[in-house]
Amino acid sequence: MSDLPLVLLERRDAVVWLRLNRPESRNALSLALVAALKEHLTHLAMDPSVWVVGIVGEGAKAFCAGADLKERKKMDDAQAQGAVDGLRALMNQVAAMPQPTVALLNGAAFGGGLELALACDFRLASETAVMGLTETKLAIIPGAGGCVRLPQAVGLAKAKELILLGSRVNAPEAFTMGLVTQVLSSTTLQGQADAFTEVLLQGGPLALRAAKRVLQSCSGLTEEEALEVEKHQSRSLLPSKDRVEALKAFYEKRTPQFRGE
Ligand code: COA
Repeated sequence: MSDLPLVLLERRDAVVWLRLNRPESRNALSLALVAALKEHLTHLAMDPSVWVVGIVGEGAKAFCAGADLKERKKMDDAQAQGAVDGLRALMNQVAAMPQPTVALLNGAAFGGGLELALACDFRLASETAVMGLTETKLAIIPGAGGCVRLPQAVGLAKAKELILLGSRVNAPEAFTMGLVTQVLSSTTLQGQADAFTEVLLQGGPLALRAAKRVLQSCSGLTEEEALEVEKHQSRSLLPSKDRVEALKAFYEKRTPQFRGE
């Protein structure tokens, strides 16, 4: 086993990439990896200088092969329940991140691996990536948000097909059904992902957070309640320096320099 950290943190300007670092186990989510991810996410969520958070797997083979099945085999029922609860908490923490989040599927994403990607706002996939919520093949179900978040991404009929058949789909198929945002060349993967986050950085970071908060809170609310959330978030941006800078830059015909203030 490697002595390297289970999660490597790579900062590029206002973007932080978290690299799952268990390539020998196809970045399977061991208890220790889940704990390490949670700790990083807690810090990043509180850091206003981080405008975008990305998650990617180390190695060319896998983004994340899901729950660590070797670890799981040694658990009794109560421990297995605790592990699934921990995974669910991780996915909820990812989904609740205030910044936009991007999963870069550099390879396979199965079970909890795809649930992790589904908890992100965007999924970019290498042309070689394969993915699926294949849990029923293991006599369990996606229990960390997959049954709920997959239909949100692809619609109920397609989600039933993928989950009940336990299908494995490739990146172009996943793109066609709306499961991934973009399919990228495997040879220039990180560069293309950086180009994607660069576009996100062109938006005011406070605006991105506010828009995300409104979009996230819409489901489950009445239209009236959702419009109230939107009104509140919209108003919260009016005093921001970035808004003034955007108007000034428009007038001066130049690119705005946002500071997240
Ligand atoms: N938990 C623990 N170890 C895992 C794992 C997992 N979910 N997935 C892969 N590994 C381990 C393998 O056991 C193997 O270990 P070994 O070298 O000690 O034999 C190593 O990672 C490499 O796996 P391998 O299958 O040879 O790699 P691959 O690149 O050919 O295939 C996958 C990668 C992800 C497609 C394949 O490993 C796979 O299908 N894994 C299971 C996915 C799954 O069912 N996840 C759970 C859904 S609930």
